[in-house]
Amino acid sequence: MAEAAIAIQNYMDLNDEDCQARALKAKESLGSKLVILGHHYQREEVIRFADYSGDSLKLSRQAAASDAKYIIFCGVHFMAEVADILSRPEQVVVLPDLAAGCSMADMADLAKVERAWKELGRIIDTQKVIPVTYINSAANLKAFCGRHGGIVCTSSNAQAVLSWAFERGEKVLFFPDQHLGRNTAYKMGISLEEMAVWNFLRPRGGLTPEKICDARIILWQGYCSVHQMFQPEHIDRFLERYPDAKIISHPENSFEVCQKSHYVGSTEYIIKTITESPPNTRWLVGTELNLVNRLHERFKHEGKSIHFMSPTVCMCSTMFRTDPQHLAWSLENLAQDNVVNQIKVPEKDAELARLTLDRMLEIS
Ligand code: 13P
Ligand code: SF4
Repeated sequence: MAEAAIAIQNYMDLNDEDCQARALKAKESLGSKLVILGHHYQREEVIRFADYSGDSLKLSRQAAASDAKYIIFCGVHFMAEVADILSRPEQVVVLPDLAAGCSMADMADLAKVERAWKELGRIIDTQKVIPVTYINSAANLKAFCGRHGGIVCTSSNAQAVLSWAFERGEKVLFFPDQHLGRNTAYKMGISLEEMAVWNFLRPRGGLTPEKICDARIILWQGYCSVHQMFQPEHIDRFLERYPDAKIISHPENSFEVCQKSHYVGSTEYIIKTITESPPNTRWLVGTELNLVNRLHERFKHEGKSIHFMSPTVCMCSTMFRTDPQHLAWSLENLAQDNVVNQIKVPEKDAELARLTLDRMLEIS
């Protein structure tokens, strides 16, 4: 029989080393009943516990393929929701700290998206609009896409997903990240003039009816607070100093940063590209600090110099919420069959969200 759940307060004064030792012991005792998934932005003391690390797409696939009774997701809330939606009903998904959200995902909510859809419907035929949500969004927005013939994308399949959408509709409503939408659509040959930015704080998105009618893609005005720190001037200054350096950026960066980058892609793509590059190459990387620091450490023995794009230290503070204390707490509770911080998407949203995620996985 399960003992009473242990409270998180018992862990907050413990040091990282003690928590890691306890987490390891609990993990070992759970054996194949447990799988730990870790996003590349997790800190070193946490990612070392991951059975699988990856970008959003790879981790979604791992969650769908796992047989484990318990899935601990070291990442952020929307990722744990996706794991719950794609896993079997009897599997349990745990997010070690419930405060690990995503500020970009929070920039779109169902009420605002439904209002936008209604307002668009007064000007254009929304039957011909395909809603596309970035995976960085709440499950009920994925369900919204499911209800309206739409789909989900990640940073690594956005182009394939947008092609799918344009085969089925005349226009796309893309949320919540304007940058991923703009960078991807531009790469597909859609001009900046054919894009409209929907300001979700203003009536009719702050757009004229003409602009809405002319747009091929309507971009929600959301952004990532981490990636907005990277500026084109950082690239210019770096290249002045190191003209042979290569620039690689995540597509959540601004259009200007992506245009100045030699390579643009997901976290998994960034790791793969740097891994496969010749020794002694120099890189400026426009993505989250924990990943860049890890790449720096991993490749310094090959003479690769890996630099962070921003002169100021900026990391994803919500990814950083998962610490050895919360990990030890959730693991020791699971080892006693106490489930803490379970992420469970209501079935009414899960069913439609699953439809859009399955569509995405099929074409990725
Ligand atoms: P990836 O899917 O590329 O890992 O990106 C997730 C994310 O939140 C980047 O900010
Ligand atoms: Fe969200 Fe940005 Fe953090 Fe990614 S880096 S989880 S988009 S806040």
